[in-house]
Order: sequence, then C-alpha cells, then structure tokens
Amino acid sequence: MNIYDKFAYFYTKGDFPQYSQRMATYLPAVFEKFKIKPQTLLDIACGEGAFVVSMVKSGYTGYGVDLSPQQIKFARKRAEKEKVQAEFMVQDIRSLSFKNKFDLVTCWFDSLNYLLELDDLEKTFVGVSRALKKGGAFIFDLNTILELAVNWSENKTYIFYDEDDRYLIRHHPVPFDFEKNIGVLKITGFMKKGKGWQRMDEVHKQRGYKIEEIRYCLKKANLKELACLGSLEKITELKPDSTRVWFVARK
Ligand SMILES: C[S@@+](CC[C@H](N)C(=O)[O-])C[C@H]1O[C@@H](n2cnc3c(N)ncnc32)[C@H](O)[C@@H]1O
Repeated sequence: MNIYDKFAYFYTKGDFPQYSQRMATYLPAVFEKFKIKPQTLLDIACGEGAFVVSMVKSGYTGYGVDLSPQQIKFARKRAEKEKVQAEFMVQDIRSLSFKNKFDLVTCWFDSLNYLLELDDLEKTFVGVSRALKKGGAFIFDLNTILELAVNWSENKTYIFYDEDDRYLIRHHPVPFDFEKNIGVLKITGFMKKGKGWQRMDEVHKQRGYKIEEIRYCLKKANLKELACLGSLEKITELKPDSTRVWFVARK
C-alpha cells in the first residue's frame, strides 16, 4: 500500500485541498508576469484533484497523475461531482509517460519533497520536460530545509482536526536528519465506523533540497529557471527565512 492510500479519506475531508485551490487563484498574475499562455495542463502528484478541477472550471484542459490509487479515486469522484471533464491516472512522477504534450506542468504542496533521492528529483524533472511542449512552463513548490528542520522538529504534536466522525493528529517522532536532510511525520487518524472508531497510521518522510540541488535538476532536464520565489501570491523572491519555495521554469 502507498502512502496517502489510508490518509486519502482524511485528506479530502480536511482543508488540505484548499492549498492548491489557492494556487489556482494566484496563477493568472503569474501567467501575466512570465508571459505564459497555457491551454492544456498536467498536475503531477495531483492528490484528490482539487487543483485540476478548479483549473478545468476556469477553461483549461486538465490532467492529473498521482501514485496513490485512492487519491485518484477521490479525484475522479470530485470531477464527477463537480461535473467537469478531467482525466486522472495512477502514475509515479519519477517515470512520467504521456502520448500528448502539455503547455503547463504543475506540482503543489510539497509533493516533490517525498522524493528522497536527488536522482529521483532529476528523473521527475526530465519526465516533466518530456511531457512539456517547447516553450511550456513548469511551476512547482517545495518545503525548504528550514521548514523541515525547524517546524517539523522532534516530538511536536498537533491536532489537524477534531470532528464528530473523524480525528486527525500529526506528530514528529524523530529529529530532523541533517545528514540526509530528511524529516519524518507520523499521521494518526480515527474514523467513526458504526458505534466504534477505525484507526489508521501513516509515516511520511520528506527531504529538504538545497536550492542549488533543485537548480542542478532543472538544468539536467533542460528547463530554464524564470523565477525562484518565497511567495507565489505576491511573486516575491525567496528569502533566507522562507519555509516554502516556488519555482517558475520554462522548457
Ligand atoms: C501533500 S499531497 C499533495 C497533493 C496535491 N498536489 C495537493 O496539492 O493537494 C502529496 C501527494 O504526492 C503524492 N506522491 C508522493 N510521491 C509520489 C510519486 N512518487 N509519484 C506520484 N505521486 C506521489 C501522494 O500520493 C500525495 O497525493
């Protein structure tokens, strides 16, 4: 079973999908600034489809891929419920493969941090480049090392949400590994089942990448960096205390 298969239900029921929906509202200004005029888009590690569905509603043709069959199931359900035409497929972003090419590829909400080897990040970027038309754009975000090393520190526990029928906790059981730049997040959820509760646990590992490592992978994939941002909303540069980084790149 993949990570996010058991968590998918809690993900789609929480406010997690709102992050990529917010990104969709920031994009028109980003398109204008960098002269990007997409019609077709591919969202990689698309989760339960909130971003693709938002973009299709705004007139784009949208595709999404994710490793978790359960997330893809929820994505198809969301498209059906919201009556939009969007295609979702199970694919590993490290080996992307498409017959058609896209004007825009996106990857949101620290999905790329789940790639724990630099080689996997490079393979993903090469696959993105293959999937893009010439002149097409790639826009993505990652948690910075600062976010994983400081905000994901040992033994911090938070309640994500506490509802009548579901309860979700996040916990960081071990210190950040400064050698491998990897942080660990344990998610425990309880879902009401009849008169009782069903428990699920998932352990997620994320790697923080140095900015020069991300740039190295872009170069290897023949993608040209247009911007390295600390806020996509304000389109402002990355700062030393940024907890998230956004890149805008072009093939
Ligand atoms: C934090 S969620 C973000 C989902 C979505 N992008 C969003 O903004 O809501 C991370 C997603 O990355 C997916 N993922 C992790 N590793 C992956 C891989 N190697 N290939 C495809 N998807 C992957 C997970 O299944 C999960 O849906």
